Amino acid sequence: MSRARILAVDDEKAVRSALSVNLRRHDFHVTLAENVGAARKLLEAEPFDLLLTDVRMPQDSGLELVAHARECLPNLPVIVMTGYGSVEDAVSAMKQGAADYLIKPISTAELLIVLEKALEQQALRAELKLLRQEVSERYGFENIIGTTPAMLALYEELAAVADTSATVLLHGPTGTGKELLANALHYRSSRADAPFIRVNCAAIPESLLESELFGHERGAFTGAIRQHRGKFEQADGGTILLDEIGEINAYTQVKLLRVLESGDIQRVGGAGTQRVDVRVVAATNKDLRVETREGRFRRDLFYRLNVVALRVPSLAERRADIPLLVDHFLKKYAARNNRAVPRISPAAVETLMTYSWPGNVRQLEHLVERAVILNRTGCIDAVQLPDDWDDEEAPPPLLPPIGTTLQEALADYEQRLLIAALKESEGVQARAARRLGVSRSNLNYRINRLGIRLKEIEYG
Ligand SMILES: Nc1ncnc2c1ncn2[C@@H]1O[C@H](COP(=O)(O)OP(=O)(O)OP(=O)(O)O)[C@@H](O)[C@H]1O
Ligand SMILES: [Mg+2]
Repeated sequence: MSRARILAVDDEKAVRSALSVNLRRHDFHVTLAENVGAARKLLEAEPFDLLLTDVRMPQDSGLELVAHARECLPNLPVIVMTGYGSVEDAVSAMKQGAADYLIKPISTAELLIVLEKALEQQALRAELKLLRQEVSERYGFENIIGTTPAMLALYEELAAVADTSATVLLHGPTGTGKELLANALHYRSSRADAPFIRVNCAAIPESLLESELFGHERGAFTGAIRQHRGKFEQADGGTILLDEIGEINAYTQVKLLRVLESGDIQRVGGAGTQRVDVRVVAATNKDLRVETREGRFRRDLFYRLNVVALRVPSLAERRADIPLLVDHFLKKYAARNNRAVPRISPAAVETLMTYSWPGNVRQLEHLVERAVILNRTGCIDAVQLPDDWDDEEAPPPLLPPIGTTLQEALADYEQRLLIAALKESEGVQARAARRLGVSRSNLNYRINRLGIRLKEIEYG
């Protein structure tokens, strides 16, 4: 980079003039100061691209200048120059945020390398910031991190459909940010001031899902002691996120289809219907095409949801976003835990970039959170990657002897499990039932059906 503006601070005249000559010869624009006070005045008056300062000077220490720059001009890279016997000063300066240090006497070659590196890093950082700002200004997706082509394409698609009422299906592997994107979709639409209601279809017991979604009238079923407004009614005018849509049962699928087709909902136990104006966003980490093909998901409902289908890429498909994500999570968890933001070594980032990330962004986020909490030095040098999940394949099942049917093999296996549980609970059936996650009467039924003779079990 040529014509970069450098402010060089040193109390010794000989050093100042040597720097001035050498840097000008290499096409830098140099301004000189002989003490911290003068340097501060210059920093306030003019823009500089880099500050180069001595540490030990008769009046104020160069470290003060480092601290000042760090606070008032956080984007200004600072390089300190220290004497041979005062490497400690260099360490202090780096801790305070200096980009690099030089030990006197300084060779021109070394000086140039260090300057170029610091300026280059700063340029990269500025570019990144600009890119990020641009993305967030264009799409308003401030807390969604990612500038790889895959993500940019996704923002583009999201922005195009955000302010329509089209049903959107977000699909992609676990932990890729589907919920985050659904949020952004709502807040980018003209429905932003109306409610955004999320329903986790996997977390609600099947028997309650219909009433959760559509509400119920008083007395509709045992326990329905008062009228209940469902999530669709609550979301009226806004957006409903049907999260984990792949998990809903066949019955609720029918009900949902009817609502999507008519725009009317009917409370459980209610006679009439009610019109709602709700934008539907559905999310799933399942492949709904496969679910449909294999009969677990209604084809007509799939087509209703699949109006605009957006695929969210896995983290492995956008590895180049990993440094940005790491940076984002370092800041997030440092703030949450009242810590200074730790730095992370390039080697550690490198390691993170080569991992497969089966749990995607969520997994990376947890890892960084842990590193921030456990870090004591202010710099994360190495990261502990989890064992690759992909390697953890289940052992192949042992086939039963030829001539044994599946039914017989399962009965045999069940019998062995029951006996093992009874042994472990020393014959206390209630405990054995609990261990196997069945009711006591169910355990008893199984014991009788398999003809297990309790008296013959040997308790160790
Ligand atoms: N692009 C991103 N930028 C910043 N944070 C992200 C990004 N993608 C995901 N996250 C974070 O990762 C975590 C998981 O994201 P989210 O819950 O949206 O995933 P999901 O796709 O819904 O996963 P699942 O299918 O398991 O429900 C959240 O804490 C979210 O904030
Ligand atoms: Mg989710």
